[in-house]
Amino acid sequence: MDSEAGDHIPEGGSGRYIVVKALEDGVTIMGLTRGRDTRSHHSERLDAGEVMVAQFTELTAAIKIRGKAEIFTDVGRVDSETASRHPVG
Ligand code: TRP
Repeated sequence: MDSEAGDHIPEGGSGRYIVVKALEDGVTIMGLTRGRDTRSHHSERLDAGEVMVAQFTELTAAIKIRGKAEIFTDVGRVDSETASRHPVG
């Protein structure tokens, strides 16, 4: 099956896209490495209204989004919330 976990992902990208629309200034998108280690290999900063269209690749297995954004993927749409800059405690 095409969507089965473990399918080969070509170096150029998986062919599926995710879209992130920043709803505030300073939203960050971090690319996390595929494989045994999970580390951030790239980060992108978006300001309100900016949109990023991206693919998962051989290098990138996951992304982390910090800040308020709309996120569109194959599995649906989700909103991230403003990251708290004033942790309780
Ligand atoms: N290096 C991890 C991997 O290739 C990256 C990863 C994928 C991940 N999905 C995750 C890390 C979910 C934390 C949670 O599997």
